Amino acid sequence: MSQNGRQDRWATRFGLIMAMAGNAVGLGNFLRFPGKAAPYGGAFMVPYFLALLLMGIPLMWIEWTIGRHGGGYGHGSTPGMFHRLWKHPVSKYLGIFGVLLPAIIGIYYIYIESWSLGYAWQTAIGAYWGQTSHDEMGRVFESYLGLGGGRYSFSAMAYLFFVITFAVNILVFARGIEKGIEVVAKYAMPTLLVLGVILAVRVITLPPGEGSVSDGLARIWVIDWGMLSNANMWIDAAGQVFFTLSLGFGMIHTYASVLRKDEDITLNGLATCATNEFVEVILGGTIVIPAAVVFFGVQQSKHLITGSFADMGFQTLPVIFQQMFGGRLFGTMWFVLLFLAGLTSSVAMFTPLLLFLKDELNLDHKKAVVVIGAIVFVLMQPVILFFHRDIVDELDYWAGTIFLAVFATIEVVVFSWVFGMDKGWQEMHLGADLRIPRIFFYIMRFVTPVFAIGLLVWWTAHGFLDALLMKGVDPANKPYLWLARAIIAGGFILLAWGVSHAWRTHPKFFESADEEEAP
Ligand code: ALA
Repeated sequence: MSQNGRQDRWATRFGLIMAMAGNAVGLGNFLRFPGKAAPYGGAFMVPYFLALLLMGIPLMWIEWTIGRHGGGYGHGSTPGMFHRLWKHPVSKYLGIFGVLLPAIIGIYYIYIESWSLGYAWQTAIGAYWGQTSHDEMGRVFESYLGLGGGRYSFSAMAYLFFVITFAVNILVFARGIEKGIEVVAKYAMPTLLVLGVILAVRVITLPPGEGSVSDGLARIWVIDWGMLSNANMWIDAAGQVFFTLSLGFGMIHTYASVLRKDEDITLNGLATCATNEFVEVILGGTIVIPAAVVFFGVQQSKHLITGSFADMGFQTLPVIFQQMFGGRLFGTMWFVLLFLAGLTSSVAMFTPLLLFLKDELNLDHKKAVVVIGAIVFVLMQPVILFFHRDIVDELDYWAGTIFLAVFATIEVVVFSWVFGMDKGWQEMHLGADLRIPRIFFYIMRFVTPVFAIGLLVWWTAHGFLDALLMKGVDPANKPYLWLARAIIAGGFILLAWGVSHAWRTHPKFFESADEEEAP
């Protein structure tokens, strides 16, 4: 389908910005960011802002441009988009990452999102009230997930909230871009912002306890310059910028593919980054870290905040809410906020696959939604039942870390060096409401690719071989980690078949040389 033939588009600019911001704003802003920043203190913000400026914002513009450019030829996912950037037989196969990775991440992301809904309910009815220590809340969490030491991790409660969350995702997704994703984002994002501001104000007005609010804010804003030589901090900061802006996922491309050819990229792309950063640094940073410092003091909170996604959101904060005036209300708001942040990202995770099935394999919308719903539902079962076997960590390591960096590196190299920055810059500025300062031309040409390659090399050099060989893994868990790898590999093979089939059979790939001109 050519761009002119695509019916389902963003209806309004506000809706587009909310949907793009919703795509980026997610669990990463409220749980992952404080966990990454807290151990390093304010020094973390130096590499964080540098990575944002040199890699995050440039990559955001690049992904919007690749998306709108490919969308002009009727491609809503990266295999087709890459084919239009680089006429080489391998390019379309490289694009598979941008369909596979968000879908794989989506299958565990939805499960975590469902915990937020479950905990919103549990907090509203005060189900765990009285379990006031971190250890007690740990046991509440284990019982919520059904981690009883048996063969399966299963609880009726967690499963019920998973089914509800899954159904909400599919319903939104089935209604398409304009009627589903845009409508939800238009309501969910402002609600999330209001909840975030209320929670941040509540935290700022907390009376001093083991620590004060200013001690907490100092953990993010006071820089210990000696820390800047810590290499891990630079890598963590760059990785966080990637994750939080949804870069290297393939899903920004897909949202951009339904833009009109002269619809602005530069200002909208910048607005997406700005909204995400406001939510992450100002709201995410003000809620979790200062609250933990007030209730646990500077030293103890360091250990609690560096815990996993689950630990901080579902064990540490519920302890805090129980000690806070109005805690039940604020606790419920927190989990609703997490749910909305998760929902607006998770619906984005399956759109690349949806448009791949529709545009390249010619499935109609209904069939494509049913196929995706069935695959996701089936693949989520091992994630739920073998959660206690670290299957999510394995999926997250490969799909959510290593391959994201691989894909981002590939795309920036293909765009800046193969397609060429001169053409790329021109394409980016078609219909632009903001002229990007020329310095970014050179940043995109030299600095961003080198930054992305550096990050990838570091990640592979540190821990890659151990992870590949499953060093230190409990032998009982190994079959489950292999299952995670089989899911990723199987997905790749299936999509490679789909690409090869589409390119053999689909007429739009055999247009004459004048195809360079997008319709
Ligand atoms: N960018 C999304 C998040 O922060 C994936 O969770």
